[in-house]
Amino acid sequence: MTYAIIGSGAIGHAIATQFARQGIDVMVANSRGPSSLTDMARALGPNIKPATTGDVVHADVVILAIPFGAIQAFAGSAGADWNNRLVIDASNAVDFPAFKPADLGGRLSTEIVAEAFPGARVVKAFNTVPAAKLEAPPAQAGGRRVVVLSGDDGSARSQVAALIERLGYAALDLGTLRQASHLQQFGGTLVAQDLIKLA
Ligand SMILES: NC(=O)c1ccc[n+]([C@@H]2O[C@H](COP(=O)([O-])OP(=O)(O)OC[C@H]3O[C@@H](n4cnc5c(N)ncnc54)[C@H](OP(=O)(O)O)[C@@H]3O)[C@@H](O)[C@H]2O)c1
Repeated sequence: MTYAIIGSGAIGHAIATQFARQGIDVMVANSRGPSSLTDMARALGPNIKPATTGDVVHADVVILAIPFGAIQAFAGSAGADWNNRLVIDASNAVDFPAFKPADLGGRLSTEIVAEAFPGARVVKAFNTVPAAKLEAPPAQAGGRRVVVLSGDDGSARSQVAALIERLGYAALDLGTLRQASHLQQFGGTLVAQDLIKLA
């Protein structure tokens, strides 16, 4: 299984940190190219593989840690074939500077993301925890930090839940995108909440 993170900012760095802590190889790409990622790779260790956007579109599991508005263009990158691949959407559709949910005409941001990746199995995860908390060691206060997930493909949700647990967090499956929308989509009850599952 090959893993990739697109985006090396606050969220991409946080998730890459957990891959490095667990000794799992992960490609990381951003808009500036691999040479801009050498310091990050040096700091986090040999599991972090600086890559191009052209490389990461071929990973089995691709984690989207880029602005919502940049996802469509990334999905259409040359050579990308998304059929049956696992795409994890960590993005939030935010209206800046008001910092409110973007007006998507009643659609969920992850439904729009899923449309951009034809044939992919899309799961939303990692979007509710602020980056600094996501980057901290998942073992906290006698338990583990909770990462919630949702998606319309049950087996994809199970795979992502297993990855979340492997990274050290506690996974909480909220069901389909619609079932989870009032909890997980930006503006939802669990966004910016820091939940700990006690041991
Ligand atoms: N920050 C949080 O606490 C937080 C929490 C939950 C969810 N989120 C969501 O996570 C996503 C990332 O947020 P962030 O705070 O990590 O943002 P950020 O710090 O600004 O980082 C954004 C990253 O995306 C890359 N990028 C932008 N456009 C790209 C493109 N077209 N192709 C390839 N890479 C591109 C940037 O590349 P360069 O480095 O080359 O500029 C950068 O590495 C957003 O959707 C945000 O809503 C953020």
